[in-house]
Amino acid sequence: MLEIRPETTSDAAAVRAVNDAAFGRADEGRIADALRAQHAKYFGLVAVDDDAIVGHIVFSPATLHCYSALFPIMALGPMAVSPAWQRRGIGSALVREGLAACARRGHDVVVVLGHSEFYPRFGFVPARPLGVMSEWDVPDDVFMVAELAPGALRGRRGVVYYAPEFAGATRISAPE
Ligand SMILES: CC(C)(COP(=O)(O)OP(=O)(O)OC[C@H]1O[C@@H](n2cnc3c(N)ncnc32)[C@H](O)[C@@H]1OP(=O)(O)O)[C@@H](O)C(=O)NCCC(=O)NCCS
Repeated sequence: MLEIRPETTSDAAAVRAVNDAAFGRADEGRIADALRAQHAKYFGLVAVDDDAIVGHIVFSPATLHCYSALFPIMALGPMAVSPAWQRRGIGSALVREGLAACARRGHDVVVVLGHSEFYPRFGFVPARPLGVMSEWDVPDDVFMVAELAPGALRGRRGVVYYAPEFAGATRISAPE
């Protein structure tokens, strides 16, 4: 039976393998490793089936720079489901559980850079029309934001900066 639970340090190798297989490259797994090592507010969830880790999602601290004010928010990603397990609802379960965990931790805004047809079903909307920009030059429809508390973005417009561990990972900004 599928279980979603917080990741532990002993999951690291399996998490890396899921990311490498899902993305077909090492960038995202490397970012997940670096985030885990650096950020107290980072958290990850794993999807486990019969003791095998088949999915993974990461949330890391990001900052919305609004004039001189800095608002702490969360960034979703990378997330990955092992190829053989995709399109069975595991990714959706990870996003839902992850957003609920963010809300429980008191986070009210989450951004994501990803598939424009996947994330809106969880409450994400294109960020730019709300005045929330990415630090990277990415197509408008792939940079999205979700308010976990209604009105959380009121009066907050600006540029979102991800954790430094994402620096140089330009390819993560262009999911296919
Ligand atoms: C995107 C991903 C995490 C979704 O996980 P999943 O368990 O397959 O998702 P679910 O079964 O809950 O939902 C399926 C939906 O995911 C989306 N999806 C799945 N694979 C996709 C792909 N390769 N490209 C775009 N969207 C995709 C579709 O919208 C699909 O909806 P549909 O079945 O109605 O068409 C998974 O396919 C994956 O790991 N892909 C490779 C890595 C990746 O792209 N990660 C996300 C970066 S933003």
